[in-house]
Amino acid sequence: MSLSPAMLNLLKKHGEEHLLAHWGTLSEKERSSFESQLMQIDWSEVTACKNLVAKQRDNKHTIDRLHFDSAFTPTCHKLGAENTSSLKALKRGQEALAAGHVGAILMAGGQGTRLGFEGPKGTFPITTVSKGTLFDVLFGQLRAVKKRFGHNVPLAIMTSSATDNQTREFLKAANFCGLNSDFLFFFCQGNLPAVDATTHKLFLDSCDHIAVAPDGHGGMSQALAESGGLEWFQQHGCRTLVSFQVDNPLAKPVDPEFIGQHILSRSSLSTQVVPKLDPDERVGVVAELNGVTQIIEYSDLPPNIAADRLPNGRLKLFAGSIAIHAFDMRFLQDIASSSQTLPLHIAHKKVPFLNESGCLIQPNKPNAFKFERFIFDLMPLAEKVTVVEIDPKEGFAPLKNPSGARTDSPETVHKSLNAYAIRHLKSVGIEVAPGINVELDAASIFDDDDLQIIAQSGVFPKNHIDESVVVRSP
Ligand code: UTP
Repeated sequence: MSLSPAMLNLLKKHGEEHLLAHWGTLSEKERSSFESQLMQIDWSEVTACKNLVAKQRDNKHTIDRLHFDSAFTPTCHKLGAENTSSLKALKRGQEALAAGHVGAILMAGGQGTRLGFEGPKGTFPITTVSKGTLFDVLFGQLRAVKKRFGHNVPLAIMTSSATDNQTREFLKAANFCGLNSDFLFFFCQGNLPAVDATTHKLFLDSCDHIAVAPDGHGGMSQALAESGGLEWFQQHGCRTLVSFQVDNPLAKPVDPEFIGQHILSRSSLSTQVVPKLDPDERVGVVAELNGVTQIIEYSDLPPNIAADRLPNGRLKLFAGSIAIHAFDMRFLQDIASSSQTLPLHIAHKKVPFLNESGCLIQPNKPNAFKFERFIFDLMPLAEKVTVVEIDPKEGFAPLKNPSGARTDSPETVHKSLNAYAIRHLKSVGIEVAPGINVELDAASIFDDDDLQIIAQSGVFPKNHIDESVVVRSP
């Protein structure tokens, strides 16, 4: 089989004929799979990616730094403030969960390169005592909602070509971590080709395959719509969808008060933030800029603006995004039916490549540009955005880096999970002896009301824990 003339012309037009360097050595099967990859590539997107690289090279991609002067943090609702508004929101969120109006989307398509773990991040054992995986904890929380409110939270799991097979196999073997599979929907995000950082051309990672990478968590809106996921949620009666990341075992996407604030404020999109304390923290901030609520990436923020403080000592732009969002279903449907695409972002990364003699090289420094869309770029498209501030000790323990790293490592996550468990047990009168690891079973403990019942049951004599244990609700 030879390559179709149309495809050959297309490659020539884009200056990419070099991709055929090994065509002569390929079997019929390999040729056919290579041609089908070539046909699937959206060449207008490739052009957009290359234009972005050129813009960056010519330094035309700089954001107008002056306009950041006028940026400010929008009003944030504090979660757990226990005032009239927060209690009203709590009640409204509980009603929505009890009515089965809430669905969830888990972002599990990332390659997790920094963590360097074999396999999808969700399969990483993270809990302090039972060594349950990130999937166990996050799915457990949805089981706890079912136990408390009597309704399943339909869950759509976004995978990518980097994680799809292994995620499905793992979850099947793990019996979907106890979730009813009728309420699970898998969908796979798209890929975008990587571009060689020197030549600015596409490149191969095997003789019959162009190097690609997942198109970022922002690929969610398009992939969910195209896979039929939005209709699936609609059939399940969902009106609000929450999205969350696979690498934060303290995440509370189905927090009733958060959901209630979102519903009562009639927002298209609501988002959880934690206070950014140090200007150097590598976290995007929610800010209002030129009348538009948006997330400004840390790398785009000039240092003097990032360090600007309010009279009360807080950073002026303090609302650090933790990537937990609530969406009105209609908003996602409107986005899906419009021709709107989210902007591309560029990242300089290490991507394995085939050298001239056809050997696969694992680079030891960044050699390529990858392109991603970010979910938070939906924010400027939302008619109304609500920002909810949470205490990071209650909802943010990200796992990004390998063991031994100073921040966001398995050790820092363990510390946060243990401190969380000890604090909540203490709040219901259960003391934990120093140096002991305790774990709260995510699947049976929804909140402190469950812990209160455990404290009253006398399961721990004198309400004292002096050995490592998983605390479960009956
Ligand atoms: P990160 O931006 O931390 O990326 O993802 P990552 O792939 O997990 O890790 P690094 O940067 O390679 O070390 C944040 C969340 O977004 C998801 C991830 O699975 C994680 O839950 N994500 C990221 C996707 O679902 N798809 C993507 O293309 C990228």
